[in-house]
Amino acid sequence: MKERLEALKAEALQELAQVTNQQQLNDMRVKYLGKKGPLTEVLRGMGALSAEERPVIGQVANDVRGAIEAVIEGKQAEYQQAETESRLRAETIDVTLPGRPSGLGAMHPISKVIQQIEDIFIGMGYIVAEGPEVEQDYYNFEALNLPKNHPARDMQDSFYVTDDILLRTHTSPVQVRTMEKMKGEVPVKIICPGRVYRRDDDDATHSHMFTQIEGLVIDRNIRMSDLKGTLLQFVQELFGKQTQIRMRPSFFPFTEPSAEVDVTCAMCGGEGCRVCKQTGWLEILGSGMVHPRVLEMAGYDPEEYSGFAFGMGVERIAMLKYDVEDIRHFYTNDLRFLKQFVHL
Ligand code: FA5
Ligand code: MG
Repeated sequence: MKERLEALKAEALQELAQVTNQQQLNDMRVKYLGKKGPLTEVLRGMGALSAEERPVIGQVANDVRGAIEAVIEGKQAEYQQAETESRLRAETIDVTLPGRPSGLGAMHPISKVIQQIEDIFIGMGYIVAEGPEVEQDYYNFEALNLPKNHPARDMQDSFYVTDDILLRTHTSPVQVRTMEKMKGEVPVKIICPGRVYRRDDDDATHSHMFTQIEGLVIDRNIRMSDLKGTLLQFVQELFGKQTQIRMRPSFFPFTEPSAEVDVTCAMCGGEGCRVCKQTGWLEILGSGMVHPRVLEMAGYDPEEYSGFAFGMGVERIAMLKYDVEDIRHFYTNDLRFLKQFVHL
């Protein structure tokens, strides 16, 4: 029996020496140390031995088992080490490689221009007000002295939702909402930025959806010269100290008198060029003294109070300031266009 065990040991060690991978090693473990293996069989036959032989053979059997186990454990450790090393090699990170920048989003140029304009007016003591884009006919037209069927409604072709609800065509309804909220209190000194909608055909300078910023000041003794001084201060902060303004008589149902305001062309400095069609001036906004009817409807006594208002197109101003030749660039989301404004 002792010889059988020694032979078994020799055979096992020889076979183990040929093993080259984990799978083969597992097979060896089962083959020699498993429940159905030869070693187990020998140990099971120990009952038939004499009392003297039993401890001797037992000792040999344990030695054989120990020797086989030791080789298997050794190989097992070797494979584990190799596997760990290969995994570490595969997962190696080269910390000296330059990083891949992840794309940072940036504010849209129109949002930036809105912010610049807001900052200028906030600096003059204005408060920013907002109103709904889906508006009642009353606020968009009627309370601005534009009763139903008034021909001046044609100046702003509208998207109606129902007979009485429409997408606002300008930011002027926020004037009315603010005056209502103030309940006759003064001073009112607000600007209102926001989107507006018109059934205009899209072209290089017109969009069916665009942005306006409205301004409204109401107090005692507000005069046209206050409007002019405010707008001059504004354009000089936005376009530069050399900028001048010109007021041309115009008509809006909600202001009297009304004026359209031009700035000296930034391209030619007023000399006359292609951009300003040789006039030296570019229109940027509509304005005027708040019509007495509008004050009255909103609960302000026109005998006691007066005010001025203005409304500008933000895209048009952005086009002037950054020399953009087509308003549609702002809405077609071409990153090559938008990226030029990242560092404004
Ligand atoms: C108005 O909307 C008046 N509510 C402005 C106003 C307010 C006057 C307060 C008096 C007192 P107007 O329709 O002209 O006015 O529009 C104002 C500005 O919006 C224009 O000067 C122009 O810059 C811009 N604008 C008008 N239509 C478009 C359009 N389709 N696309 C882009 N910008 C436009
Ligand atoms: Mg106009």
